[in-house]
Amino acid sequence: MTERGPASGIDTTKANVARIYDDLLGGKDNFAADRAAAQQLIAATPDIAGIVHDNRAFIGRAVRHLVNEAGIRQFLDLGGGLPTQLNVHEMAQRLAPDARVVYVDNDPVVSLHGQALLARGVGVAMVGADLREPADILDHPEVVRLLDLTQPVAVVCASVLHFVPDEDKPHRIIAEYRDRMAPGSYLAISHGASATAEEDPTGVVDSFTSVYRQASAQLHVRSLAEIQRFFDGFDLIDPGVVWMNEWRPDPGVVPSGQDTSLRAGVGRKP
Ligand SMILES: C[S@@+](CC[C@H](N)C(=O)[O-])C[C@H]1O[C@@H](n2cnc3c(N)ncnc32)[C@H](O)[C@@H]1O
Repeated sequence: MTERGPASGIDTTKANVARIYDDLLGGKDNFAADRAAAQQLIAATPDIAGIVHDNRAFIGRAVRHLVNEAGIRQFLDLGGGLPTQLNVHEMAQRLAPDARVVYVDNDPVVSLHGQALLARGVGVAMVGADLREPADILDHPEVVRLLDLTQPVAVVCASVLHFVPDEDKPHRIIAEYRDRMAPGSYLAISHGASATAEEDPTGVVDSFTSVYRQASAQLHVRSLAEIQRFFDGFDLIDPGVVWMNEWRPDPGVVPSGQDTSLRAGVGRKP
């Protein structure tokens, strides 16, 4: 593991990306600093819990498509978060009991807790590592044990690439995964969207960015074109990269949060 492996120390005084998210989802694995940051996000947009739930709903629709329509049986979930809520392995294995899922997260609380929660799970593992090190992850013993990269795999990057700054070359990182994925593999992304002053007159994106400035990782929202560029070398499936709630919505299901927060898409490697 390189120097970017999971941090060994757990700093509970600094708001942490994974634990803020856990609090917004109604989880219990968070500390005062995380809850304070979550409150600041709620102050910036009372809709935030709805947006988080909509993100989980997008993951659910994407996994369902990947299992049922695309026949995918193996998933690599980068920045998977705490596997306490309805998660990718539960969604995938409900549809296909033989599905295998490896979660990757660089947060020590997430990875340790996740390993404990998943200890008795079949076909599922949690790896503590940084997604910015594709080779470390793809050659990790747990990944090699559970996933056969000569066969199609789905790489899921839900609500995580906006924590990777441009200087870390996130597009090049995703291209490294792509180059190791077999033809017929998929990439699914949800990503915080930048907004013009007209689209965001009250400055919600700026408020969010400033809350995360004090946290374990900073927020780097991106334009539609920058998000689409993650899919270079993939064929975007319909409807392309769109507002998350517009990605193959389930008839009759009303989104919980505002529609213009995250963009999402799924692409297939030809
Ligand atoms: C907002 S949560 C999203 C969780 C889940 N993917 C979802 O969409 O519901 C972001 C997660 O990404 C993790 N994360 C952030 N940067 C990461 C990195 N460079 N490598 C691996 N995980 C990362 C955080 O620890 C956190 O658990």
